[in-house]
Amino acid sequence: MKEKILVTGGTGYIGSHTTVELQNAGYDVVIIDNLSNSSRKVLDGIEAITGIRPEFVEGDCTDIETLRALFKAHPGIKGIINFAASKAVGESIEKPLLYYRNNLMTLINLLELMPEEGVKGIVFSSSCTVYGEPDRNPIDETAPIKPATSPYGNTKQISEEIIRDFVHSGAPVKSIILRYFNPVGAHPSAKIGELPVGVPQNLVPYLTQTAAGIRKELTVFGDDYDTPDGSCIRDYINVVDLAKAHVIAMKRMLEREDTENVEIFNLGTGRGVSVLELIESFERSTGVKVPHRIGPRREGDIEKIWAEPRHANEVLAWVARETLDDTMRSAWAWQQTLK
Ligand code: NAD
Ligand code: UFG
Repeated sequence: MKEKILVTGGTGYIGSHTTVELQNAGYDVVIIDNLSNSSRKVLDGIEAITGIRPEFVEGDCTDIETLRALFKAHPGIKGIINFAASKAVGESIEKPLLYYRNNLMTLINLLELMPEEGVKGIVFSSSCTVYGEPDRNPIDETAPIKPATSPYGNTKQISEEIIRDFVHSGAPVKSIILRYFNPVGAHPSAKIGELPVGVPQNLVPYLTQTAAGIRKELTVFGDDYDTPDGSCIRDYINVVDLAKAHVIAMKRMLEREDTENVEIFNLGTGRGVSVLELIESFERSTGVKVPHRIGPRREGDIEKIWAEPRHANEVLAWVARETLDDTMRSAWAWQQTLK
């Protein structure tokens, strides 16, 4: 029998790519999403890629009764992947309570229902933001957690603690916490990708919109950092590679008895790429020029951070495979479908 997985936030960017990979791996998927940052049309994209339309519940995970009704209507859910969250760093500074309520209530409700619904494991979307500005790079999972610089970042730190405390209380659940570095790109079919709402705050959607002529020019936020070319360095991870790690994590929780009840993995490539290098990669791989200029630093930006992904490489037997050039091509192909 196929195992059933609940994907919260499954019509979102990473959730939709993960749903595709779960279905390709033979899992049944039930999505819950309140469509606050995504569209029902994403289901068409998922179906076009996999031939399967996932079950979809439009609902809010902060409402425990909605979740109870979902478990009743879809019995036999064995695992949860919790993507549902608000994720805009700047907005979280303006509306902290929205972020604490949405991100923390969603997690608490899911954890509370897991034992009574017989759900064995939960994969949680965390972020490299928990490391703050690292003392050294690449950064591994044993590095200290730094004070959060935004309410959004704080929800990730608190969420990790909530999971640990709940599991240590003896609750019969397991969890794998995945700390993503910078997810970018789109499915190679260009049928799903990141749906930008309003003016993009993140580099790659801003870049592809500039290449498409929707924005006049891209501003590089600072070229006076202590990095080889002066622009900030990140670890850009292809979203399909990222999605595949969730399938491996879920399988591990459901099938293995000998693993720790809470495990944490960095998901990155292990390679630091500067903003200017990323623009170069886009231009080289697509042949499309990106008008850009150097602007001032963006407040709160980390200078450089990239992952030591060895723990995930060795324990999960997962490696980020896609090249940055291919990933940029996928982001561009997706942008062109949005026109
Ligand atoms: P996204 O906004 O595309 O997807 C999140 C989905 O959750 C959206 O479809 C939204 O409508 C839904 N949602 C939000 N609150 C909900 C609620 N209360 N009930 C039901 N649905 C709700 O974001 P994403 O980029 O796919 O991110 C997924 C997860 O990964 C988030 O937890 C995010 O914090 C985390 N993450 C993302 C990044 C990144 O750069 N994209 C980096 C690190 C961590
Ligand atoms: N950048 C520009 N110009 C832009 C946008 C971004 O130069 O128009 C630069 C930033 O200064 C940074 C890099 O591109 O150096 C990446 O910026 P993003 O906003 O794409 O990503 P961040 O690394 O700042 O933040 C992302 C997510 C956060 C998350 C964090 C760590 O947006 O939600 O990764 O996971 F907290």
